Amino acid sequence: MSVISTVTVKVPATTANLGPGFDCIGAALKLYNEFKFTKNEGGLIIQVSGTEAEKVQTDESNLLYQAFVRLYEHIKQTPPSVKIEIKLGVPLARGLGSSATAIVGGLVAANELALSPLSELQVMELAIAMEGHPDNVVPALLGGCRLAATSRTGWEICDLTWHRDIVPVVAIPDFELSTSEARRVLPTEVSRADAIFNASHLALLLRGLATSREEWLRAALQDKLHQPYRQALIPGYDDVNVAAVAAGAYGMVISGAGPTLLALTDAAQAKTVVTAMAEAWQQAGITSIVRSLPIDMQGAVIL
Ligand code: HSE
Repeated sequence: MSVISTVTVKVPATTANLGPGFDCIGAALKLYNEFKFTKNEGGLIIQVSGTEAEKVQTDESNLLYQAFVRLYEHIKQTPPSVKIEIKLGVPLARGLGSSATAIVGGLVAANELALSPLSELQVMELAIAMEGHPDNVVPALLGGCRLAATSRTGWEICDLTWHRDIVPVVAIPDFELSTSEARRVLPTEVSRADAIFNASHLALLLRGLATSREEWLRAALQDKLHQPYRQALIPGYDDVNVAAVAAGAYGMVISGAGPTLLALTDAAQAKTVVTAMAEAWQQAGITSIVRSLPIDMQGAVIL
């Protein structure tokens, strides 16, 4: 049996929820973290470079390492001692799925070093269990835009058509918002009217994404389950929203749990939308990086 001593996994950022698809829909974006695992005899070493490297834990509490260990626990084997080199491109705690990249990266790397005892579906189920919701880890693993729904026995994953004319623009502020804080502000129960609002708007969104039909997209990017409660956690939200729509975006939503804001637009308006969102946030006193990011179709890849 061949032995693998090193593996490098590249995992895309993700934008979850897309407005009305709270906790069930997400898309992978062309922005990446890269994780190299090398078996070594000398105990755990974690080296980090790239965006915000100084913020990453370099001991056993590191989420990437915890996911790595989790897979070995699942297959009832002792994890090998490893050196991990992390190259960060995805900013942390911004609503772009940085935790999902770590969970997926650690699980995929461990599965590869353990000579693939788990199928992709089993890796995905472990990733969802670790993250607690599927909408970041599923597109991070599989790429594209994905809907995840529970079935009687597990999960049904559906790949959604993202029309090539629809351009995602992300506006990433220089402050963090933890997912747990952004989930704490949500109510545990919602009204029937709000449930119907979201069911209808999510269905409309799926058709809007598939067709790029403007009026459907303009109406679809609305939500009553999470955004109304989270907007107050994101200073400048209203200003950036107004600016994005005035510049030609179909609409704007919170990316994942925030604070990154995501506008959808077309190629002709993309530059204007980028500039308008950046200026609106600057006027609100917030530094941001605003850019269009295409959809990643590959998901996690072993290099
Ligand atoms: N669906 C999740 C949320 C994504 O909005 O809380 C954050 O990881």
